[in-house]
Amino acid sequence: MTKMGCQMLWLPLALTLMMATVSTGGSIVEECDPGDLKGLASFRGGIHMDTSGRLAKWVGRRCCRWQGISCNNETGRVTEVHLPGFISSVDFVFQSQMEGWFSPSITLLTSLEVLDLGGLAGLSGRIPTSIGRLKNLRKLYLYGNKLRGPVPESIGKLLKLEELHLHENRLSGFLPPTLGCLKNLNALLLHSNRFTGSIPASFSNLTNLMHLDLHANSITGHIPQNIGDLQLLKELDLSDNLLNGEIPASVNNLTSISVMYLDANHLEGEIPFPSNYGQMPLLGFLRLQNNQLGGKIPPNLGYLVSLQRVSLENNKLEGAIPSSLGNLEALTELYLNGNKLSGVIPKSIGQLSHLILLTLSHNSIQGPLPNEMSALQNLQTLDLSFNSLTLNSIPRWVAKLPSLSRIYLAGCGIKGQIPDMLKSTPSPIQELDLSANDLTGGIPAWMGSLTQLYSLNLSRNHLSSSIPASVADFQELGVLDLHSNNITASMEHVFKIGTSFPGGSLTYVDLSDNSFTSGIQQISVGTLERVVYLNLSHNLQKGKLPTSMEKLKALQSLDLSYNKFGFGLVEALANLSHLETLKLQRNQFTGRIPAEFLNLKNLKDLDLSDNLLVGEIPAGRPLSDFPQSCFTGNTGLCGKPLSPCKS
Ligand SMILES: *[C@@H]1O[C@H](CO)[C@@H](O)[C@H](O)[C@H]1NC(C)=O
Ligand SMILES: *[C@@H]1O[C@H](CO)[C@@H](O)[C@H](O)[C@H]1NC(C)=O
Ligand SMILES: *[C@@H]1O[C@H](CO)[C@@H](O)[C@H](O)[C@H]1NC(C)=O
Ligand SMILES: *[C@@H]1O[C@H](CO)[C@@H](O)[C@H](O)[C@H]1NC(C)=O
Ligand SMILES: *[C@@H]1O[C@H](CO)[C@@H](O)[C@H](O)[C@H]1NC(C)=O
Ligand SMILES: *[C@@H]1O[C@H](CO)[C@@H](O)[C@H](O)[C@H]1NC(C)=O
Ligand SMILES: *[C@@H]1O[C@H](CO)[C@@H](O)[C@H](O)[C@H]1NC(C)=O
Repeated sequence: MTKMGCQMLWLPLALTLMMATVSTGGSIVEECDPGDLKGLASFRGGIHMDTSGRLAKWVGRRCCRWQGISCNNETGRVTEVHLPGFISSVDFVFQSQMEGWFSPSITLLTSLEVLDLGGLAGLSGRIPTSIGRLKNLRKLYLYGNKLRGPVPESIGKLLKLEELHLHENRLSGFLPPTLGCLKNLNALLLHSNRFTGSIPASFSNLTNLMHLDLHANSITGHIPQNIGDLQLLKELDLSDNLLNGEIPASVNNLTSISVMYLDANHLEGEIPFPSNYGQMPLLGFLRLQNNQLGGKIPPNLGYLVSLQRVSLENNKLEGAIPSSLGNLEALTELYLNGNKLSGVIPKSIGQLSHLILLTLSHNSIQGPLPNEMSALQNLQTLDLSFNSLTLNSIPRWVAKLPSLSRIYLAGCGIKGQIPDMLKSTPSPIQELDLSANDLTGGIPAWMGSLTQLYSLNLSRNHLSSSIPASVADFQELGVLDLHSNNITASMEHVFKIGTSFPGGSLTYVDLSDNSFTSGIQQISVGTLERVVYLNLSHNLQKGKLPTSMEKLKALQSLDLSYNKFGFGLVEALANLSHLETLKLQRNQFTGRIPAEFLNLKNLKDLDLSDNLLVGEIPAGRPLSDFPQSCFTGNTGLCGKPLSPCKS
């Protein structure tokens, strides 16, 4: 009877289990294979913390029922270990933490097909050299862990491998957004915990591989010569490593490749592909930027007809842009900036009717620009800055492109007044950079009608006369850089920009190195609550700083140096609690340094030198942390870091 009762109880349970496991591909086999159980127990034993709670439920011997485990329903062997750090529920994804050691005993699970431990940022250790035992492995996800050391040669024995994702093995895995504040610490972390060593030659035996992602590690050496043997490879990401040497010519044989990212390495030599028409027919996304690649852009580039996004920026490429470029009809983004390209832009560029972004800045490209560029009707971003273009004027067609929103024509030899044609442009201009040209005259009053403008850079020109009141019409201007011109009179109108935004729209204002004589008093009527960077240095400003400066609550950098400001330093400055940079040198400030300055806890850069300040420097941090040179050249300052005051 009792036995019967047990069976009765067991049956519905088994049914429920079968129902539950059908969808996960799990098993109803009673007990785990002893080897699998041992491997899983060792894995669990290496982990001392698991915020997801999944491992805590790994009890008993029926491992096929454990969370994250799937078995073959005939052999009962474990085929999948699926414990990704990112756990998604219906409406959000969170990253769970698993701290501990990656046990090499995982390789006891000899029937394993999928091992997914991706995104477990606290998982340390190495890829076991015995990994070659997992002959059935198809997918291996060990990205975003804290693993280090080399990728073992024996990985070449995993002949069924289709997916290999070992990217981003950094101490902190995926960088938390707050890390940006810890600048120095960050740099330390990023370099010390990554896969090292070179790519094993045995990789070329992984002929079933479709995805290979090793990005953001510290892998050295060359790309294996026979990488072209990986005929099924679709996505190859080796970016952000320490690879050197040349790109092997065998990449021409990667017939399935659609994504190739080799950027941010130390690769050199010429780009060896495509050598023939029809090779790499699916290549859509190519990134080779930030290497030391030389020679010319391959004249046959136009053979790669599927290319959509290409970035070759920051290399040493020279010669002219090949005219075969015009064959790349699918091209949407082309980054060629920061090379040594010369010659003229080929007329065929006009055929790139899907082009959205073109950046050619910092090369030696010559003018004239081909009129065919006027056919680039979908162009949104055009950056031709710092070439040998000597344009003299902004080409008429630029102002007629209906989609253009970001125009960078810095250092293009543009002369004369800011042209009126921008006034009636259909382009929704958001960013305009005409810096480092030979512009003269003033900022035209109509400019305020560019209502979508977010960033305006007219620095390093010869603009004179005052800023018109109409700049207050800019509704969305966030960045205004007018440094190194000869603009005179008052800067007051600048402080009225973006009044339609509560708190104002401006975040970055550089009016330095001009001839402004007044205006800072108007800060009180203005709306600059979002300004992070304000540089008014090298002007002719006089008088007292207004106490209303305390309204610049977001300010991180304030430079008022090289002016004629006088009177005492206002305590109001001490209310700017985010201030990291405060430059007040070469003015005529008098009196004592207010004790409130000790509240500026975030200050990293201070200069009060060459003023008329007197008395004791308020004792304590941060003021005592700065070198003497930040306080020298004053009438009578004393105390730390200067010599003690005479009592
Ligand atoms: C066992 O797995 C195979 C293939 O995965 C499936 O077709 C079959 O329905 C499964 N059998 C049971 C009893 O779950
Ligand atoms: C590739 O596999 C073959 C056959 O197993 C083996 O002889 C060869 O050494 C392997 N190549 C590399 C580079 O490991
Ligand atoms: C490409 O493959 C062919 C045949 O598969 C081979 O003969 C050739 O050497 C390979 N090319 C390169 C550059 O490896
Ligand atoms: C404006 O242009 C100058 C010169 O081209 C450059 O140095 C500066 O960084 C630019 N300003 C901003 C805010 O990007
Ligand atoms: C700046 O403008 C002033 C007055 O208009 C003029 O005297 C001066 O020569 C100009 N300086 C430069 C560098 O153009
Ligand atoms: C402010 O502008 C001057 C002159 O353009 C420049 O030398 C200085 O570095 C700038 N200050 C800051 C804090 O960026
Ligand atoms: C500025 O700081 C002082 C004390 O340090 C405080 O009394 C005052 O309310 C602050 N002003 C603003 C606008 O926050």
